[in-house]
Amino acid sequence: MAHEYTSRWFLDSEPYWKQLFEEFQPKSVLEIGCFEGRATVFMIENGVRYIDCVDPWTDEGFDDVCVSGVTAHGVKNRFHLNTDIAMKNNPGATIFTHECTSTEYFKMDRGAMYDMIYIDGSHRAKDVLFDAVCAWNYLKEGGVMVFDDYDWLATDDPTGKQRPALAIDAWSSVMQPFIEEWETKNPRQKYYIKL
Ligand SMILES: C[S@@+](CC[C@H](N)C(=O)[O-])C[C@H]1O[C@@H](n2cnc3c(N)ncnc32)[C@H](O)[C@@H]1O
Repeated sequence: MAHEYTSRWFLDSEPYWKQLFEEFQPKSVLEIGCFEGRATVFMIENGVRYIDCVDPWTDEGFDDVCVSGVTAHGVKNRFHLNTDIAMKNNPGATIFTHECTSTEYFKMDRGAMYDMIYIDGSHRAKDVLFDAVCAWNYLKEGGVMVFDDYDWLATDDPTGKQRPALAIDAWSSVMQPFIEEWETKNPRQKYYIKL
């Protein structure tokens, strides 16, 4: 069986993740926004042993990331197909799928702590900020917080008033005494280490 994907988003960041994973070797990850599991599969294949995957997989959830021509049902099926293949090839890796929004996930307060948190769910600035603030207490010291789509502008928001970068800049500015940026040439993502 082969992996099935309709999007190539993650591929631009993959070389940077290779460097990141060599340096930090995360074993436990919270991924907010998983889509078809391309990043999830990368993590399973690169030494991560435990992933909490949070995504509501609803058609509305795709609105803000401007996905067209796919159904939530199809995306969710491909997520399971792709991650099942990866787990079969990498025994010892476990993922827990939470079919809900990040807001619902954080309300559960499951208490798990992570080496890495990847924020790539709703791309509205207010939601990115909410995810960053809520995720902080679940990131271990020395762990890395990854934000996707720093350089992204929604077509329905041409002035960028709700772009992820607004939230990422606000959060990193407030958290500046408690984080260190992992410098990268990847224009799409931001990486911060918890001090
Ligand atoms: C850009 S895609 C994620 C891509 C994936 N991380 C990757 O790198 O391959 C964004 C995903 O976020 C999900 N999403 C949208 N709103 C969300 C929310 N409030 N909480 C969690 N996930 C959400 C969408 O369903 C969609 O699958």
